Amino acid sequence: MSKLEFLVSEFQRLYGARPEHIARAPGRVNLIGEHTDYNDGFVMPIAIDREVLIAARPRHDRLVCITATDIAGSPHDEFSLDAIKPHPQYRWANYVRGVADQLQQARSVLRGMDAVIASTLPTGAGLSSSAALEVCTATILQAFGEPRFDGVTLAQLCQRAENDFVGVKSGIMDQYAAALGQADKALIVDCRALTYQAVSLPRGVTVVVADTRKKRQLVGSDYNTRRAECQDAVALLSQLLDKPFQALRDVSLSDFNGVAAQLPENLGKRARHVLTENERVEQAARAAQRDDAVEFGRLMNESQTSLREDYAASSPELEMMVALARQQTGCLGSRLTGAGWGGATVNLVREANVPSFIQALAQQYQSRTGIAPWVSPVRASPGATLVK
Ligand code: GLA
Repeated sequence: MSKLEFLVSEFQRLYGARPEHIARAPGRVNLIGEHTDYNDGFVMPIAIDREVLIAARPRHDRLVCITATDIAGSPHDEFSLDAIKPHPQYRWANYVRGVADQLQQARSVLRGMDAVIASTLPTGAGLSSSAALEVCTATILQAFGEPRFDGVTLAQLCQRAENDFVGVKSGIMDQYAAALGQADKALIVDCRALTYQAVSLPRGVTVVVADTRKKRQLVGSDYNTRRAECQDAVALLSQLLDKPFQALRDVSLSDFNGVAAQLPENLGKRARHVLTENERVEQAARAAQRDDAVEFGRLMNESQTSLREDYAASSPELEMMVALARQQTGCLGSRLTGAGWGGATVNLVREANVPSFIQALAQQYQSRTGIAPWVSPVRASPGATLVK
C-alpha cells in the first residue's frame, strides 16, 4: 500500500468518508549555503521526493480536528480557529496551530476541517520535516479558505509560525524550498530579495542523503546562539569599519579580513564561515551551470570544513559519516546539511556508484557507531501542491 493509499484509508476509518482534498509538501536537502539564510545570504536547496501528506474535508464549524498517523499512538489534536494557543504537549500540533494562526493574522478566512497527516519524511534528520508540515498545513487550509497566497508569502507565514510558536528562530530556506521547489532543479535563493534562480545539477551525479540517526539534543539552542553571534558580529563590524551594515551579507571578505583580528575569536569565526559560504554558493552555481560536478563536490567539502572549524556545527557522527563517504568510489563531495549538530549529510555521488556507495556507507557507519543509518538517494521534486 502506498503512503497515499494508507492516508486515504486512515481518513475513511476515522471519519467514515473520503477526503475532499489531499495536500503534499516535500522535505528539502540543502546542497550548499549553510547558516547563510538568516544572514540575508544565499542558499542552494532542492525539495526532495519525501513528503508530508494531509488529507482533509471541511467542517461546518471552526474546529480543526487532526490526527498524526506517523507518530507513536497516532496522537490527535483539536482546536478552534477562534482561539489558537500553543499546544501544551505536542510539538507537531504547534506547527499546525501556528500556521493556522499566521494565515488568519494575514487575513485569511479559514474553515474548520477534519484532517489526517502521514509522512514519508524521516523526522529529526535535518530534512525539514517541520517546514514540510507547516507548508502542507498552509496548502490544505488554503484549499478550503481564501485568499490563496503565492509561494513566497506562504513560506514567510510558515517561517513566522515556526519562529513564534516553536521558538526556533529559523531562516526562510526550508519553507521556501518546500513551497517553491522544482523537479530536477536546485534553487539558488537570494534570502534577502526572496527571489530564486533554478539550476540543473551537473549530469551523471545523484544526491544521496545519509542520516546519522543521531538527533540534536537541545533543539534550537545552539541554533539561536549562532544567530545571536552573527548579529553581534554585524554590530561590531559596523563599528570597526564605520559602515552601517544590515547583515553579514553586506560585508565584503576583504573588509572583513582587514579587521578580523579585532573581533572576539568566536564572532570572527562565525562571520568568516558566513562570508566564505556565500562565496561558495556563487561558485557552486557557476560550477552547476558549466556542468562541473567535480568542482561542485569540492566546494561541498570546503563547506564542511568551514562548518566544522569556524561554525562549530558538526558532530562526531557527522564527521564519521562524511569521512566514510569520501572514502567510497564515486563520491565527489560530502557535507552536513541543515542546521548541523546531528541529522544528515548530503553527498554528491556518480550515478554508476550509487548502489555500492549506499551499501558500503551504511555498513561501515553501523559497524563503527553501532547505529543503523538511513541512506537514500533523493530526487529534486516540485514544491507543495494539492494532489486531489
Ligand atoms: C535550519 C534552518 C534554516 C537554515 C539551516 C542552516 O535548517 O531551519 O533556516 O538556517 O538550518 O542553513
